[in-house]
Amino acid sequence: MKKTKRIGVLTSGGDSQGMNACLKTITMTAEKYNYQVIAFLGGYQGLLDDNFKVITSKEAAPYFHLGGSFIKSGRSKDFEDDEKRKAAKKVYKNHELEALIVLGGDGSIRGAFDLQKMGLNVVVIPCTIDNDAFCTERAIGFDTAVNNAVNAIDSIQQTMSANDRILLVEVMGRYCGDVALYSGLGSESDIIMIPEKKQKEEKIIREIAKQLNAGNKSPTVVIAEHQLNVQKLATKIETELSWECRAVVLGYIQRGGAPTMQDRLLAIRMGVASIECIINKTFGVVVSLNDDKINFKSFEEAIKAGKQFKEELWNTFLEMKRFKTIKKKSLQKK
Ligand code: F6P
Repeated sequence: MKKTKRIGVLTSGGDSQGMNACLKTITMTAEKYNYQVIAFLGGYQGLLDDNFKVITSKEAAPYFHLGGSFIKSGRSKDFEDDEKRKAAKKVYKNHELEALIVLGGDGSIRGAFDLQKMGLNVVVIPCTIDNDAFCTERAIGFDTAVNNAVNAIDSIQQTMSANDRILLVEVMGRYCGDVALYSGLGSESDIIMIPEKKQKEEKIIREIAKQLNAGNKSPTVVIAEHQLNVQKLATKIETELSWECRAVVLGYIQRGGAPTMQDRLLAIRMGVASIECIINKTFGVVVSLNDDKINFKSFEEAIKAGKQFKEELWNTFLEMKRFKTIKKKSLQKK
């Protein structure tokens, strides 16, 4: 009797929109090549505990257009422990897996590298709203997160404008400013605070004052998380500028909801490519997108890759800001 060929899959870390679309593509493509797909539930912890189920494209299909991960995601403390991590190899061998596909971000790539060093065949698909897997221009989930942030900021700006209030919006991104930069530009916000371009609170307050003086009665500031306490800054601004200010932490609204077309497309392209890697026995790689082409980066390369900060986008933002201020000033003169 012909032996069943098996591959494993898991979704790790913070989930991102498009993981389900990718799982559907992986199962479909795997079936084409007669692979059975074993899903480890809840990320690396599921692998250590051998908590699994066999998944098929039929089972994955209804989740294609939904955020989250139908095989659950998570962060595992046990997996960081060198001793406890050894259980992964046993589970992998017991299931006679040919390879394991990991869907996750920066931390998951490091985890996959550890598994590769233990002799496992691993392929990573970058999935993170933070866009901090720097070997790829874009990770699955980033586009949806930014769209969600832009829609939310647009809505909040309408009520802020009706009440002449300053708005501070904290967005996610861990230590990467991409969500803030893209959503700040997309929502035509007035000031953006990102870790890549450190700015002191005092400078931000001065910039807001400049906006108010130029006739903008409800300036918006988009702030990447982990830089400061937005509620405290709002209170300080109200005291120093005698102008009403509201702070909003957008939170998980950015990580949920239907994936955009861009994320679905990327999930499909990367999902197919991951199975092709297995067929071609290309292991220890992160499926990446650069210049709109799918390519493969070794785990070493991926971990070493520096931030691909979009200096050009930042300069565009600065130029737009200068133009907006000049325009407002000239309108005032009339
Ligand atoms: O990595 C994705 C992300 O949403 C970050 O933007 C955020 O800092 C973090 O996860 C929140 O993690 P958790 O949901 O585990 O608290």
